[in-house]
Amino acid sequence: ELGPPRDQRGRVLSDLRISVVDRCNFRCPYCMPEDQYPRDHEFLSKAERLRFEEIERLATLFASLGVHKLRLTGGEPLLRRDLPELVRKLAAVPGIDDIALTTNGNLLAEQAGALREAGLKRITLSVDTLDPETFRVMSGGRGDIGTVLAAITAAERAGFAPLKINCVVMRGTNDGHVLDLVEHFRGSSGHVVRFIEYMDVGTCNDWRRDLVVPSAELRTRIAARWPLVELEPNYGGEVARRYAFADGAGEIGFISSVTEPFCGDCTRARLSADGKLYTCLFANSGHDLRGPLRAGASDAELSGLIRAVWNARDDRYSEIRSEATPVSREHVEMYAIGG
Ligand code: GTP
Ligand code: 5AD
Ligand code: SF4
Ligand code: SF4
Repeated sequence: ELGPPRDQRGRVLSDLRISVVDRCNFRCPYCMPEDQYPRDHEFLSKAERLRFEEIERLATLFASLGVHKLRLTGGEPLLRRDLPELVRKLAAVPGIDDIALTTNGNLLAEQAGALREAGLKRITLSVDTLDPETFRVMSGGRGDIGTVLAAITAAERAGFAPLKINCVVMRGTNDGHVLDLVEHFRGSSGHVVRFIEYMDVGTCNDWRRDLVVPSAELRTRIAARWPLVELEPNYGGEVARRYAFADGAGEIGFISSVTEPFCGDCTRARLSADGKLYTCLFANSGHDLRGPLRAGASDAELSGLIRAVWNARDDRYSEIRSEATPVSREHVEMYAIGG
């Protein structure tokens, strides 16, 4: 009997992020800018996307290799029809103790109850600013902050509180709104706002280092208003560094992949909607699992394939990038594999 697979750097595989659809109803400038992402881009067809039964089968195999945590992403995962049905299947997979969803919130209000009932445990929602005009800009003219705030209320009612609220900070766009965001969610809400450094993911966001606001800078600014106390990670390999408000009004987090990379204990694998396995957010390409799956591979063959891919993994893109200026290269798009 083989133990859990380890990669070239000794990292185990414990977290699988599953993209269920590559479409999105937003066009965030840091991910899928309307005027930049290829005009002739073809989204996946229904036949190309994994069916729920196929996702369930792969998740079961990943779980047998040590994965205990699943996160559903997109694009925007709530654009995939009948998502609660998938959640129900995944919640029943032996070994899975955590199922979370990352969403922009636009379609969440009407689905929150059904998702909860199906066994979804946690929701992470993106809110880059509370300012209506800037929110519109940061969703590519498609989002409305009122809708997202209503979704937060619906998620609370459905039993998902506390939520995690992700905010990607871009200098000159929303960095001036950070204190407002903190103030809004501080205190009674219990929700945890996490600030994410703008990353050079994908190929179309025109990333520039000077648009990144280092977490240390934000932390200083926030702590000057509300003193902060550093907290221990919730679990090994946690992406966010946690801080509590000294006055007891809850906590915030910083995800600093540019200035403080966390590849050293990265235990995350990503599965795209068309069944490719990516071993890094910045991978050039993925390893096809759908082909063998549809060609009738056995469970042993498929898990052997996953094991081999993980064993060969040597990714540490964020560490390498921080040692040098980025070299231009092909990256998978963020909307194809989620966050
Ligand atoms: P939990 O701790 O399970 O709540 O989730 P999380 O904080 O790991 O998940 P989430 O999906 O909310 O991650 C937040 C953001 O962090 C993502 O949208 C990405 O921008 C970034 N991120 C997450 N994982 C990685 C990673 O492996 N590498 C890099 N570079 N960034 C990541
Ligand atoms: N940099 C940092 N985070 C990003 N996300 C998407 N694109 C980027 C980027 N360029 C994250 C956002 C969103 C999640 C789905 O992916 O936080 O919440
Ligand atoms: Fe924005 Fe997420 Fe859609 Fe990308 S996938 S455009 S980050 S809402
Ligand atoms: Fe993991 Fe790649 Fe992100 Fe590093 S850059 S933390 S290896 S996904």
